[in-house]
Amino acid sequence: MLSRQLDALASGSKEISEDNRLHLEELWQQTNNIIQGVRRLSQDLRPAALGRLGLLPTLEWLASDVAEYSGIGIKVNILGSERRLTEEVELVLFRIAQEALRNVWRHAQATKADITVQFDKDKARITITDNGKGFSLPQAIGDQAKDGKLGLAGMQERARLIDGTLTVQSQPGEGTSITV
Ligand SMILES: Nc1ncnc2c1ncn2[C@@H]1O[C@H](COP(=O)(O)OP(=O)(O)O)[C@@H](O)[C@H]1O
Ligand SMILES: [Mg+2]
Repeated sequence: MLSRQLDALASGSKEISEDNRLHLEELWQQTNNIIQGVRRLSQDLRPAALGRLGLLPTLEWLASDVAEYSGIGIKVNILGSERRLTEEVELVLFRIAQEALRNVWRHAQATKADITVQFDKDKARITITDNGKGFSLPQAIGDQAKDGKLGLAGMQERARLIDGTLTVQSQPGEGTSITV
């Protein structure tokens, strides 16, 4: 990888002048910034596929992407007859799934997670479950936001935007389930 080669060059060679070494380190910094920027951009951009392909293929992409870097086995299930939802609803559900999987990866120590989308006549429901370590639920999700934990609070906020309800079920040792 480019950044690793620059790193090796900056730290390895003795014949390099101090000026050049500083310059290399600067290039290395810039390279890292670009890598992070691209990663963020690709995560933010992904919903472009949402408009074109719809929620389910985009969730499939998300699941395989997260599975690849986390090693967690992630399945996407569909119940009921699949249909397109409004652009806004699809985006909210995608973002909630994205944030929920981020939590599974960061906190749950899970080996498996499932995303289930259920289509009823006039409702749609998405559930993200994991078989990880679970946690004690706070009295209100908003309470955690004060400690800078904005993930669940943000999910709740997003759910409200589309007249949805967020439910979080968890218990230490029991895994976690998030439903909108
Ligand atoms: N899937 C999960 N498994 C275990 N713990 C979780 C899970 N999701 C959330 N948590 C717990 O709930 C807390 C709040 O989550 P969140 O609001 O997303 O904030 P953050 O991820 O920034 O800590 C986490 O710090 C973690 O302790
Ligand atoms: Mg989080």
